[in-house]
Amino acid sequence: MAILPIVTYPADILEKQCEPVKRFDHQLIKLLNDMYDTMIDADGVGLAAPQVGVAKQIAVVDVGDEHGRIELINPRIIEARGEQVGPEGCLSFPGLFGEVKRANYVKVRAQDRHGRLFTLKATGFLARALQHEIDHLNGILFTSKVIRYYEPEELEG
Ligand code: CO
Repeated sequence: MAILPIVTYPADILEKQCEPVKRFDHQLIKLLNDMYDTMIDADGVGLAAPQVGVAKQIAVVDVGDEHGRIELINPRIIEARGEQVGPEGCLSFPGLFGEVKRANYVKVRAQDRHGRLFTLKATGFLARALQHEIDHLNGILFTSKVIRYYEPEELEG
């Protein structure tokens, strides 16, 4: 296991369309493990491969609910419904938090670390995290969707 350096904004790789993963090999498994350790170390709930300098469609999410650790390879949102507005941050924008509108429900189709397809349905905060990470894989940053930024005192407590 290794803690990887996190790429912070501005960086070209954060705004690039990521390449699909084609090889499900030992290197991918190592990257997934390192990304998870890096996310936990940074107190994050999600991390996308471009944030550790890899322009591939790979993300990890763990919002601390019953779903636990989620690994997403080549993910697609195949259904989205409803609306939620809430605070969002990003490990590539330390200390920055903004209000972002997201779908309240998403259905995601992705591959696991072995290349097997699976479907995940999520609502609320997990749905928000999934949308944020999948955006990263398309070079879309949450700052492009912020309705308003929070002042530091609004986030205390
Ligand atoms: Co982010």
